[in-house]
Amino acid sequence: MKKLLTICSVIALSLGLVACGETAESNTSVETTDAEISTEENTSETVEEVQQTEDTTVEEDSVLVVYFSVTGNTKDIAEKIASVTNADIYEIVPAQEYTDDDINWHDDNSRTSHEQNDPAARPEIASDPVSLEGYSTIYIGFPIWWGEEPRIMDTFVESYNFDGITMIPFCTSGSSGIGRSGKNLEENAGSGNWLEGQRFGAGTPESEIQSWIEGLQ
Ligand SMILES: Cc1cc2nc3c(=O)[nH]c(=O)nc-3n(C[C@H](O)[C@H](O)[C@H](O)COP(=O)(O)O)c2cc1C
Repeated sequence: MKKLLTICSVIALSLGLVACGETAESNTSVETTDAEISTEENTSETVEEVQQTEDTTVEEDSVLVVYFSVTGNTKDIAEKIASVTNADIYEIVPAQEYTDDDINWHDDNSRTSHEQNDPAARPEIASDPVSLEGYSTIYIGFPIWWGEEPRIMDTFVESYNFDGITMIPFCTSGSSGIGRSGKNLEENAGSGNWLEGQRFGAGTPESEIQSWIEGLQ
């Protein structure tokens, strides 16, 4: 009888162990499934990121407004053009900021007097280069300095290839017209389809800018 009880205990113990083993296996299998799900989630996050990156790429025939401005007048016009044309905007930031002394046109020894007296001067640009891919039109704006474009504008146009892009110069000034600035930029760029430029006074209203843009089409 004792022997029979021992055999029964051994069988019961074995059955219990098998059951425990199955439970552990199922847990493992659930864990694996969780891991797979979390891997799938990560993958779909990656796909979303790629799609977001693709969404931010510039669409064909997009418009870009490039500008340089020290006292804000050209910046204001650039932002109005960008608003009317739904354009992206890129600021040319000089590596060495222009101080009040630098832009003192009463001083023959000021930095701008030196730069404007030297057609070969090419002040360095600090802003990251802009990719022109996807842009078919670029408005390019600057203040008039001594009747011409600031030399940093020449630094900019000499750094890019504008093939296939319509280039539209604009400027702000106290009273001078755009003069030869557009032509200078075109010659120094050596690429792009350059239109006649346009001068604006400081604070020109957006409606006037819109009429000018509509007249271009
Ligand atoms: C160094 C310097 C030279 C300038 N030369 C002229 C000029 O020849 N003719 C003119 O009408 N305005 C001239 N201006 C005035 C600027 O063209 C005008 O204030 C412009 O709107 C400034 O643009 P910003 O505010 O975008 O820098 C000159 C300004 C500076 C600082």
